[in-house]
Amino acid sequence: MLSLKALIFSKKDNMTVEVLKDYHSLSERAAGLLIEQIKKKKDSVLCFASGDTPRLTLQMMVEKAKAEAVNYSEIQFIGLDEWVGISPETSGSCSSFFYETFLSPLQVPKENIHLFDAMAADLQGECFKMDRIIGELGGIDVMVVGIGVNGHIGFNEPNTPWNLQSHVAQLHEITRTVGQKYFEGSTDLTEGITLGFQHLLDARNLLLMASGTGKSGIVKAALTEPCSEKIPASVVRRHVQSLILLDAHAASSLSPQAPAVE
Ligand code: F6R
Repeated sequence: MLSLKALIFSKKDNMTVEVLKDYHSLSERAAGLLIEQIKKKKDSVLCFASGDTPRLTLQMMVEKAKAEAVNYSEIQFIGLDEWVGISPETSGSCSSFFYETFLSPLQVPKENIHLFDAMAADLQGECFKMDRIIGELGGIDVMVVGIGVNGHIGFNEPNTPWNLQSHVAQLHEITRTVGQKYFEGSTDLTEGITLGFQHLLDARNLLLMASGTGKSGIVKAALTEPCSEKIPASVVRRHVQSLILLDAHAASSLSPQAPAVE
């Protein structure tokens, strides 16, 4: 994908950091790049995180479908992760988020949708199945991820080895607490099922997005402290082709202050 029209903050090795004015501009930029990708390769294999960060990007991709004549019927859609024990029908699950924001409005064919079944009796089997599907699809073209306040990506919590494929993860205390925001009532969040960082490192393009001052500290740590499994998101600096899209709030701890872009 990444034909960048503006190099905003820095470009180091194979990583580009762009700072956008706000969440809206950030989402517009991401949606534009993803649409460009799909126009170039209509059967693109896209992997998305759920959550607040990619919500508007996905909504904009839906909104722009008609005006920009984007054909989403051949994309392959992979869900990055899911809360173990939460059914896909539960509001707040990653699956229900994907269906509501993107998959249902665009009527993405069922056979092109690949989500973890976090209710499966055999979760390890689910992991093997996802790894096999990704392999059969020829790998991920674009992986779109957010970042947790503890630095996690997907459910790859601090100190998770970077060479893992899909796995079941014990959730960090912070993840269990912050994750409550997605659900209507108090919900037992103990484990997650997630793609691993080997998938992330193998993806042809990586797009990490962060928005809001609440993410500024961990964004700074991930981009400036030594790369380490202690700060999972620092893995993005090991990727061959990564784009980091930040809004001015998420970038506010980075120095020098980047000019925000319209
Ligand atoms: C969710 C996921 C998580 C989120 C992260 C940020 O599928 O993979 O790693 O990306 O927790 O969440 P938001 O975007 O809600 O701040």
